[in-house]
Amino acid sequence: MVQHDSEVDHSAQVDNNSEMDNSAEVLLRDAIQRLSAAGVPSPRVDAEVLAAHVLDVSRGRLAAMAIAGRVLTAAQAARFTELVGERADRVPLQHLTGRAPFRHLQLRVGPGVFIPRPETEQVVQVALDQLSSMAQSRPAGWRPRVVDLGTGSGALAAAIAAEHPQAEVHAVELSAAAAAWAELNLAPLGVTLHQRDLREVPPEWEASFDVVVSNPPYIPEGMVPREEEVRVHDPELALYGGGAHGLAMPFAVIETAKRLLVPGGWFILEHAEVQAPALAARCRTDAALSAVATHQDLTGRDRATSATLDEEPASPMKEWPA
Ligand SMILES: C[S@@+](CC[C@H](N)C(=O)[O-])C[C@H]1O[C@@H](n2cnc3c(N)ncnc32)[C@H](O)[C@@H]1O
Repeated sequence: MVQHDSEVDHSAQVDNNSEMDNSAEVLLRDAIQRLSAAGVPSPRVDAEVLAAHVLDVSRGRLAAMAIAGRVLTAAQAARFTELVGERADRVPLQHLTGRAPFRHLQLRVGPGVFIPRPETEQVVQVALDQLSSMAQSRPAGWRPRVVDLGTGSGALAAAIAAEHPQAEVHAVELSAAAAAWAELNLAPLGVTLHQRDLREVPPEWEASFDVVVSNPPYIPEGMVPREEEVRVHDPELALYGGGAHGLAMPFAVIETAKRLLVPGGWFILEHAEVQAPALAARCRTDAALSAVATHQDLTGRDRATSATLDEEPASPMKEWPA
């Protein structure tokens, strides 16, 4: 059981010091060494996050506790050491804390669901900017319908619902395990979750959404991720996009988006940097799409593509310019 800072058993200092040093400072130092030896990329941060999680305090408070020479109870020290061991075995940090920070949210995550990545936060920002821009040319009180295809933990749908509360947000996920996590994150925000295949949406959904967002699987077949956290713990269904270039699922998202969007509707999908030219070309040669744009992540890499579904049905002239 997690014990609050105020409940830390100071008497444990006497008992435990006779056998082992359970001071926060020493436990953290040992954990950092153990995580470094295991090749964990950010050993200090991970050790502090795990200790803060066990003590149910912020990392800032934990730092203050360590400086003040605070001692953990035997149970807290044992729990911390157990979690550090699992992290050294490369279980994702977010599985151990049960939470993944995503924009302003702390999403519930665990085995069976893809851990949301920081670059996806940028895709959300582009979508929010687009919603604000679209609202300017729509009647007052416009309530955009947004759908997130392949929602995983619900990251994109949850962030959009939280930050653009006027939107009616839906989310689609095929995996039952992922959908269970998504439901925990999405229900409190009023997002409707549909457990189904994003390639087989019902006819009544057609031409009914203003915005489609997606971070689909896109890793090429045979390109196995190096990090054990990803290779072993992210579900295969979340990783591999299908086909030699991993583009089968991204292309499927574009096809579904075209069916779901109202004329003038807009979609964005995340992808790998190397896939940007192929996806932009696919959209530019599609007679029904226009305003194709490539978007960079915070490190300047081309990581998302967006396009608008034309207001008018495509005319043959669009393909055969004079
Ligand atoms: C790369 S993960 C992204 C999850 C989430 N959108 C995020 O950004 O954190 C892709 C998600 O698509 C789901 N998925 C894969 N194939 C699908 C399909 N045919 N229909 C619906 N969801 C699918 C996977 O289960 C996984 O949750």
